[in-house]
Amino acid sequence: MSKPRVFLTRLILESGLKPVQDFCEAEIWSGELPPNRDELMHYVHGRNGLLCLLTDRIDADVMDAAGPGLKVISNCAVGVDNVDLPAATARGIPVGNTPGVLTDATADFTFALLMAAARRVVEGERQVRSGGWKTWSLDTLLGADFAGATLGLVGFGRIGRAVARRATGFGMRIIFSDPNPATPPRPGTGTTPEPGAEATQVDFDTLLRESDFVSLHTPLTDKTRGLMNTAAFAKMKPTSVLVNTSRGPVVDQPALYEALKSHRIFAAALDVTVPEPLPIDSPLLTLENCIIVPHIASASWQARQKMSRMAAENLIAGLKGERLPNCVNPEVYGRELR
Ligand code: DGY
Repeated sequence: MSKPRVFLTRLILESGLKPVQDFCEAEIWSGELPPNRDELMHYVHGRNGLLCLLTDRIDADVMDAAGPGLKVISNCAVGVDNVDLPAATARGIPVGNTPGVLTDATADFTFALLMAAARRVVEGERQVRSGGWKTWSLDTLLGADFAGATLGLVGFGRIGRAVARRATGFGMRIIFSDPNPATPPRPGTGTTPEPGAEATQVDFDTLLRESDFVSLHTPLTDKTRGLMNTAAFAKMKPTSVLVNTSRGPVVDQPALYEALKSHRIFAAALDVTVPEPLPIDSPLLTLENCIIVPHIASASWQARQKMSRMAAENLIAGLKGERLPNCVNPEVYGRELR
């Protein structure tokens, strides 16, 4: 029997690649950059499965270019804002993602960014390299303390909770607000007994007003696009630090630039931007108090191997006509599958 035909928009790591190549006839995009629109439309044609990355916009046109044989879309990321889910569901195509396996890596990296921004690590490193550091002094590159400070988590899903557990070890007070709660808030105290952490739910304005550190862990949705805007920055403490490891469009970048330049807030660290990569002439890159890294929060060896494996499992399950182990549009199972 002939193998199902799949297109991978990028080489995935060995843990996922081998099962895909064993089970499928796989075409793997090998360009340095992701396939452009025309290339994607061309290569998807006639495939039974598509394994894509967050860099690929998978909309109704791409699904239709694939044709009626497309049985599954497997996104090798936990975020799926790059995939048009209603369009997939309408066509009876299950969409898979990779939750859980990158939680710890992303939470670790969030802390790396929180500390780097608060304690001016990158600025200091630049001083040393440029010969700008002349001598030790009591007021060189002073930054913010963690013990006793308030951490405000915007989004309290897997990653937000993992950050809360780490913050507990630093002696921080933890508050959260959740613009897209997976489960409704618990009635009563508003305190969520997260094992290893105690976090209190507050409204978004209270979070902005009370936090010394604000860290974003929310998916990109209509509710969260531009959430961190001029009005939000105006409510934050002038000593506060913003970290974004969620999705770039959650932050209004021109507003962030103004807030950082005018010292309305102390510092920011962004793992994600609009666009990615951020153009080299972006005003944000002129600021000493802004750290920008290339969307690497989940980039640990283990996390990326597990993401590759999970993406392969979703792809293969879909090709077999089985339920995806991690499906983001399970409502598809209530209708006729492809
Ligand atoms: C995801 O999986 O959505 C992350 O952004 C990748 O690090």
